[in-house]
Amino acid sequence: MTQRVLTGITTTGTPHLGNYVGAIRPTVQASLEPGVESFLFLADYHALIKCDEPERIERSRLEIAAAWLAAGLDPQRVTFYRQSDIPETPELTWLLTCVTAKGLMNRAHAYKAATDANEAAGEDPDANVTMGLFSYPILMAADILLFNAHRVPVGRDQVQHIEMARDIAQRFNHLFGRGRDYFVLPQAQIDDHVATLPGLDGRKMSKSYDNTIPLFEGGAKGLQEAVARIVTDSRAPGEPKEPEGSALVMIYDAFADAEQREAFRADLRAGLGWGEAKRRLVNLIEGHIGPMREVYERYMAHPEQVEDILQDGARKARAVATPFLKELRHAVGLRPMVAVPRAAPVKAAPAVKAPALPDFKQYRENGLFYFKLTAADGRVLLQSHGLAEGRQAGVWVKRLRTEGAAVLDEAPVSLGDGVDRATVEAALAALVASQE
Ligand code: TRP
Repeated sequence: MTQRVLTGITTTGTPHLGNYVGAIRPTVQASLEPGVESFLFLADYHALIKCDEPERIERSRLEIAAAWLAAGLDPQRVTFYRQSDIPETPELTWLLTCVTAKGLMNRAHAYKAATDANEAAGEDPDANVTMGLFSYPILMAADILLFNAHRVPVGRDQVQHIEMARDIAQRFNHLFGRGRDYFVLPQAQIDDHVATLPGLDGRKMSKSYDNTIPLFEGGAKGLQEAVARIVTDSRAPGEPKEPEGSALVMIYDAFADAEQREAFRADLRAGLGWGEAKRRLVNLIEGHIGPMREVYERYMAHPEQVEDILQDGARKARAVATPFLKELRHAVGLRPMVAVPRAAPVKAAPAVKAPALPDFKQYRENGLFYFKLTAADGRVLLQSHGLAEGRQAGVWVKRLRTEGAAVLDEAPVSLGDGVDRATVEAALAALVASQE
């Protein structure tokens, strides 16, 4: 079975080299594997939780989209879209919110960190905590469950959120599934081979430490200036240097092959000056990202092209999300109102017969399997197309019986001659009601 892999990128900030090595590069590579279907989206609703500056939100979405495209993401192979272009996401968020225990959210790390910090500062525990921050994991669960992703590649800090998505999915399946699991239980995927890149000061490269090397912004000059600021020891050219543990060497490693790594170490041990070592590092990185930067700059100059790509992605994503949400609405009872024959008034014996119900019949013809729905008077209301397997016919009959008109658009059927849809919907509703 194809594995569906899905991940989101919160669109705050400008992509840096650490994002490239830790997320962009491995994800683009993984998306080329056979047998996987990748969904990748810009988590811009999540960005709103952390940022209330509209211009920054706008700019960051573009920069991040352009960076992923420049790094080789193929929108033909990957469903690449923006969270905020999928109205089914907030809609599902609400359905999930209604089955999520508040206690589960109380335990979320991000929320607990905020309340702990407030308490330590002697403030009200919920000071400056928005409902967005509090319910963040539910929005994330909706992102994942809407597409029934099997695997979710994330950093360790996000693992708890995936576990919460599983909890929420299970709860929904249990409450509304009636024998059917609407949601796949997603699995976090943590790639231990991907190194976290150190920043200029040797700590993990992160915007919050202000120690980043920009990926594309600032051009080749920006790269050179940032590399010049990587902290090294004060050994002079000619003095032997210890490569292990040096941030500069670790960054070099992330772009070098085995041979280059060895040569770089040997040269440092033999006294290569840090200035020269930095020049080599700049050349190495520039060789990788220089060509990508050109593509990045082209997209930055033509945001409308990025917009088109994302709109296309949204269409692909919604082809999955829209029918699924329709089923979920039906599952929780948000159903179209259709005429259902009223139960006959209860009289004393003799018992009155219930109104005759329409019925499904399955049959086989010329090696194909068929079913049809016939009204009590014998009229054909629905006629199936020929199906290769009898089991398929059985499954559709069962779904039409239990879910009614909600699955009509998906089911392999046509309306009977001269029959209108409302009649079929009413007949299905009567069948569903007769089983409840
Ligand atoms: N919260 C994730 C992060 O900050 C981003 C994200 C949002 C995400 N929705 C997601 C990741 C769904 C994976 C799946 O990194």
